[in-house]
Amino acid sequence: MAKRRRLVVGNWKMYGRLTSGLVLARELADKIAAKKPLNFDIAVCPPATLTWPVSEAIMGSPLLLGAQDCHHATHGAYTGDVSAAMFADLGCRYVILGHSERRLAHQETNELISKKVAAAQLAGLTTIVCVGETEEQRTSAKTVEVIEQQLRASLPEKNQIAQLVVAYEPVWAIGSGQQPEIKDIESVHQTIRKALGAAGEAVQVIYGGSVTPQNAGSILENQEVDGVLVGSASINGDGFWAIAEKCR
Ligand code: 13P
Repeated sequence: MAKRRRLVVGNWKMYGRLTSGLVLARELADKIAAKKPLNFDIAVCPPATLTWPVSEAIMGSPLLLGAQDCHHATHGAYTGDVSAAMFADLGCRYVILGHSERRLAHQETNELISKKVAAAQLAGLTTIVCVGETEEQRTSAKTVEVIEQQLRASLPEKNQIAQLVVAYEPVWAIGSGQQPEIKDIESVHQTIRKALGAAGEAVQVIYGGSVTPQNAGSILENQEVDGVLVGSASINGDGFWAIAEKCR
């Protein structure tokens, strides 16, 4: 089995205005241009408002673009929503789906997420499907059960394995400065891969939750970790690049 390529994704969440977003995107594109060969994939997922300006700014650069969510329909009377096809149209390669902030704040269910995954894959996007346990589930030793259940129920029947990335994001580790022990990340990643079956061998399983330039090296060193999904540390060009450079 060939080694899976590493993937580093920056989730800007609801941060960034036109000027600051463009500065950050160009700074990253410049850093990437100077890195030859580029032995990992790297993407940014700006807020929806910045998708097009960032897309234009990084055109021709190996820096890839993603969205943070999408609607499950291709079009329709859905005020305020954006479809996967619309993001694909603007040059997106990826879309993050099932992020815990959406599961919690927007009451997104596994069933809804699976519909979004199907729509996004149909639109040609690679879906970064997030799963992760809460603090309470962790302390009551339910992590494995929760992850397996979320994963099974968040993937559509006709899931396209070649368009799937799974992100393990423990809810309690997001934005908290806390992170699981490496052996625990490793074990959850193994659980995810096992749940995906034989075809899962090629799927990138990445980790997210308080990843910083300081801890990224030890996380990315683990062979079960195919990359990282970075929140707050991704809105600083030097910091995000320092994380990405830990990919070997
Ligand atoms: P932080 O890196 O800010 O903890 O956020 C992680 C995350 O939610 C990425 O999707």
